[in-house]
Amino acid sequence: MEQSIRIFNSIDELSQFFAEKLASLVKDIPASRFFSIALSGGSTPRLVFKYLASNFRDRIDWQKVLVFWGDERCVTPGSDESNFRMAKESLLDHVPIPATNIFRIRGEADPYIEAGRYAEAVGQYVPSCHDSPQFDFIMLGLGEDGHTASIFPGDLHLFRSDRLFEVAENPDTKQKRITATGKMINQARHIVFLVTGESKAEMAARIIKKREGWKKLPASKIHPENGELLWLLDDRAAMKLNVL
Ligand code: 6PG
Repeated sequence: MEQSIRIFNSIDELSQFFAEKLASLVKDIPASRFFSIALSGGSTPRLVFKYLASNFRDRIDWQKVLVFWGDERCVTPGSDESNFRMAKESLLDHVPIPATNIFRIRGEADPYIEAGRYAEAVGQYVPSCHDSPQFDFIMLGLGEDGHTASIFPGDLHLFRSDRLFEVAENPDTKQKRITATGKMINQARHIVFLVTGESKAEMAARIIKKREGWKKLPASKIHPENGELLWLLDDRAAMKLNVL
């Protein structure tokens, strides 16, 4: 696994780096196939989506991009908690991506049925490597409790699951979620964490620097088998990285 960390002075600089990396990866995909990306929810991804919509509408061939989600709250697509709605309003409505390239997790459906249906849809459209669909790109956020996607502390069994998507639950709100499993995430070619703000500094340092208790944190179990792991942090989220 190749892990690298980039630290930026602002969310705009972080967003620009993310956008240019994404544009370059999409461009390098052979014309014979699509580029598959799994989006994340969260406040940092929302800002990055807005940047992409404003600055990369014409710099990415969106016709080549298939959009999935790494997790979704079990709410309707019109809910203000929907990761789909957030991505739609901040990015997808503003770039020329065909509706048929967008694969929403149906948060309104029965979670257990939808987790299976969505795994099948991913298997149908995302090429496999070692018998498992391999996303070209997965973006992830980091919760203050060390969760990522919707894999929360205490749910580390989701890194041992043979399934691609499972039903999870936010331990605070008890809200059901559908999440990619560790197997699904760690199969990806490029995994990019987007982490900003002082509130994430402690957790980011614990995971990146492998400090006390790091092994129990879901985000510490993200390590692509044959891919790249890239951390994109702003300087506030990175402020505890160098503290001994
Ligand atoms: C979600 C995300 C979740 C998020 C983190 C960080 O559905 O909310 O998948 O993993 O990325 O909770 O969120 P913030 O960037 O808003 O702190």
